[in-house]
Parts: sequence; C-alpha cells; structure tokens
Amino acid sequence: METDKLITEFTKFHIQQAVERLLAGGVVAFPTETVYGLGADISQPKAIQKIFEIKGRPSNHPLIVHFSNLSELEFWAEDIPAAAWKLAEHFWPGPLTLILPKSKLIPVSVTGGQETVALRIPRHPIALNLLEQLGSRKAIAAPSANRYGFVSPTNADHVKCAFGDKIDVILDGGACEIGLESTIINCVDNNVMLLRPGGTPLSAIKDLLKQNIQIQPHSQIRSPGSLASHYATSTPLEICPTSEILLSRSSTLLQQGIYTAAVTRSAPQISSDKLHYVLMPDEPIAFGKLLYATLRKLDEANFERILIEAPPDDLEWLAVADRLTRASHSFRK
Ligand code: TXA
Ligand code: MG
Repeated sequence: METDKLITEFTKFHIQQAVERLLAGGVVAFPTETVYGLGADISQPKAIQKIFEIKGRPSNHPLIVHFSNLSELEFWAEDIPAAAWKLAEHFWPGPLTLILPKSKLIPVSVTGGQETVALRIPRHPIALNLLEQLGSRKAIAAPSANRYGFVSPTNADHVKCAFGDKIDVILDGGACEIGLESTIINCVDNNVMLLRPGGTPLSAIKDLLKQNIQIQPHSQIRSPGSLASHYATSTPLEICPTSEILLSRSSTLLQQGIYTAAVTRSAPQISSDKLHYVLMPDEPIAFGKLLYATLRKLDEANFERILIEAPPDDLEWLAVADRLTRASHSFRK
C-alpha cells in the first residue's frame, strides 16, 4: 500500500521518532484500524518484556506479530495451508489475525512459549507506514494498548490515560475505524477455526473459503482475549436479554437508588435523574465502533451499574456479543 501519500509530513516526523524508539528497544503505541496497539520490535527480548510489564499481562500469553508485506509471510510462518494464503491475500491489510506454525525467526517470548504465532498486516496508514519505515524483515509485536483485562483503547487519549508516563511515543491516528479487535482464525493443521470474532465478519470468511467455520472451544487454547472475563469495565455491567427486561431492571435499580446507565438500541422510556440513557446504533458495525469508548465514558462517570440491551442473536453481531459477554462476566460471577 502507498502509505506515504496518505499521511502528513507532521505524522511522518512522529513515525520516524517512533521507529528510532523501537530500534533502541523502546515501546510505542500506534493506531490500527481495530484498536491502538502497544508495540515493540520482536527481535529485542527486553523490549518485548517491557510490553508484558507495562500491560501487567502474564508472560505466557502470546502477542500478535504485525508486519507490512505479504511476501514476507513465509519469513514469519511455516507450513502455511492454502486456506491461510487465501485469507491473507483477500483480507490483508485488514482486521484479521491468522494463527500459524511459527518460523524460527519468531522468538518464543512473543508467542508465550508456543510453537504457533499470531500474524496480521494492519491497514491503518500510520501502522503500515511505521512497519514499512522500520524496515524489511522487521515486525512489531503488539497487544491492545490497555491494562490487562480492561477495555481496549480506540483513541490516543485512552492510551495516554492508561500509560502516558510509561510509553516513549504515542502516535495519534484519531478514533479507530472499526473499534473492536481483529478476528482471529486458527489455521494450524489445516483446521480453520474461529478463535475470536472481530473486525472481519465471519460471513465474509465463510464466503471466501466456501466452508463452515467452527468456533474453537476456549478450553483448547491459551488466549487471554478468550478468557471468560476480559474487556471489563470497573462498573458492574449487566446484559438484559430484551429492551422490556432492560426497562424493568432500570425501574428496580432506580427504586433501590442505584445510579444506573442504560445502553439501548431503542428510544428511552423512563426519565429520572438517577437513570442515564445511552442510545446506540441498531447496526453492528456502527455499534462496535462506539462500544469501547462508550463503556469507558460510563466507567469514568461513576455509575454504580451499567445495563446493556443484548444484541440480536445474529452472526453479524457476534463480535459485539462476545465482548459484552466477557465485559459482564464479573457481574455474573
Ligand atoms: O486488533 C487486534 O488484534 C489488536 C491490534 C493492536 O492489532 N491486537 C490485539 O492484541 O487485540 P491482544 O494481545 O490484545 O489480543 C491478541 C489475542 C489474544 O487473545 C492472544 O491470546 C491471541 O491473540 N493469540 C496470540 N497468539 C496466539 C497463538 N499463538 N495462539 C492462540 N492465540 C493467540
Ligand atoms: Mg487485548
């Protein structure tokens, strides 16, 4: 992709600074089309270790390796099945991560000790340009730039709030286009399975491969984004199966004097100074884009409870439903 023409001179200057920091073993935050990432050069073990420390993430949880050039896929992975090539050629650059057997060039510190690696070419021009400027046969390991278990960042301020004093450079690319993490597909052993629904719709993957895609049971993988409790708010979050149930829960909580935010996809029906309504789009892509920023705002506003109307039971809402279920886990426990 010709990223040079898509970014300003000012941004190029910041990207150059980020490249210098990465080459010197530093950690930088950068925008992708999904969420912001916290990146380090994969060839520098100390820099990788810093990512785990800053995030507070256990060191056996693997990171996604980002690179910029499809022709280098064989440099990072081995035994690449035909289906993985097809997905890579069609969806990259884009919000899709492929799990493949790792090549010798991927350190196990990045993969949490596993022999497989998560790979992705992001499509945000700043991310791509950063990778291009870093040089050929270079790659950036980057988890989402949030503290372990919390909501992912979808703008530079979110990153600044979490880690401002701990990161060398935060590249600002504005609000993320997609706002939810990449879809993760396991392509190991010719067995194409969904590990995490995300920015690339499962229907598009099925259409391309002309096959059904199984959802991999979480017990079979080591993947923090698939832990039951993840993407969590500090405020207890409760999913209400229907808008009617949301309404009656709101009334109950109101009567108990509990300061509540109700996130719906239909017009507000109760008004009270103890209840705050948030109207979200009734369409999965627009909803997904706003979800994390909305949860953060509600969390910061010191509500005692967040109620959310459950998304429709529809494949297109899978990624939103997945994040909401995990965000609500601590409440259900
Ligand atoms: O959209 C995204 O994917 C963002 C941007 C920054 O690219 N990154 C992201 O990274 O969401 P992170 O670390 O927050 O989530 C990566 C997920 C985790 O659930 C991790 O366990 C899984 O990818 N993963 C990484 N390597 C894996 C592997 N070898 N096998 C199974 N899962 C893996
Ligand atoms: Mg994450």
